[in-house]
Amino acid sequence: METLLFDAKKEGSVEAVANILKNGGLAAIPTETVYGLAANAFDEKACENIFKAKGRPGDNPLIVHISDMSMLKDIAAEFPEGARLLAEKFWPGPLTMIMKKSEKIPDVTSANLPSVAVRFPAHPVARAIIEAAGIPLAAPSANLSGSPSPTSFEHCVHDLMGRVDAIIDGGASSVGVESTIISFVGEKTVLLRPGYITLEQLRETLGEVEISHAVLEKLEEGEKVLSPGMKYKHYAPKAQVTLIKASSEDYIKFVNEHAKEGIFALCFDEEAEKLSVSTVTYGSEFSDAEQAEHIFDALRIIDESGAEKVFAHSPKASGIGLAVYNRLIRAAGFDIIEL
Ligand code: TXA
Ligand code: MG
Repeated sequence: METLLFDAKKEGSVEAVANILKNGGLAAIPTETVYGLAANAFDEKACENIFKAKGRPGDNPLIVHISDMSMLKDIAAEFPEGARLLAEKFWPGPLTMIMKKSEKIPDVTSANLPSVAVRFPAHPVARAIIEAAGIPLAAPSANLSGSPSPTSFEHCVHDLMGRVDAIIDGGASSVGVESTIISFVGEKTVLLRPGYITLEQLRETLGEVEISHAVLEKLEEGEKVLSPGMKYKHYAPKAQVTLIKASSEDYIKFVNEHAKEGIFALCFDEEAEKLSVSTVTYGSEFSDAEQAEHIFDALRIIDESGAEKVFAHSPKASGIGLAVYNRLIRAAGFDIIEL
């Protein structure tokens, strides 16, 4: 298939992409978290094509994106009080909420679940495209299933050229990790995926919020989970990654002791010059927002470097760091060393 490339800064490109989507096509579009692979959320066939283009398992539901609160009534059957409070504070923004789904949402979009994931993105290009299309857009991250999520136009071109109708360049994603996901469909309010909106911020607004054990732990074989996406191998580079939980000093000592050909360090900016192996950095030790912004790009750079084995320095698992930690334990296939 021919993939048309657009630049959001050029006149007419938003409208052209919106038209492709309205006509049942697929387009990779920028959001502030990561790029999304979008299609009309009400169009069964178009949503089926998302799964095909990504190579995504059919039981992993899609997030539905809106550009106006009035769109919500055709997507969700209820708008719980907690969701209302969070929407007031964090929408538009990097937060996805799971609610009971409306009958208008096809089963393929929600992977046969009775619930639906909804997000109101803040990125001006994403919002403009949804608005111009006049329909909510179902969009998973625009990577091939299993690869690191795309935070730039180039990442999308790398993964999806020839597999989708269009890719539009809206610059690098500033958040860098996918949205925080919170569920309102069970008895308790549960954090399913950590992101830029932190657990601490959610608790400040809602009081009690549980954290799904899939956020921090490996799932058992065949275990049923609230968020199907959590059970799949994810974000994994070709190299074998080990996550090292240690102080900077101990991490540097450990890596230098294990230095040899083919070994890479995925480390903080401040550590690179003290290491005697090839390094890829993912932000300052002191900024969890920077770490989130760069982590997926760093994993892709490692892929291209031909690294065989990677020692990744673990971020602190709090604040936005919880999101980075959650992605890295998956990239490492839960191979963790605590020093
Ligand atoms: O930031 C983001 O959320 C990006 C941008 C494009 O918006 N999208 C994204 O989509 O990360 P995706 O498909 O890569 O991740 C969606 C996650 C999956 O883990 C999926 O299992 C979960 O959301 N999910 C979707 N609908 C759900 C539902 N009804 N119940 C529980 N989990 C759901
Ligand atoms: Mg994804």
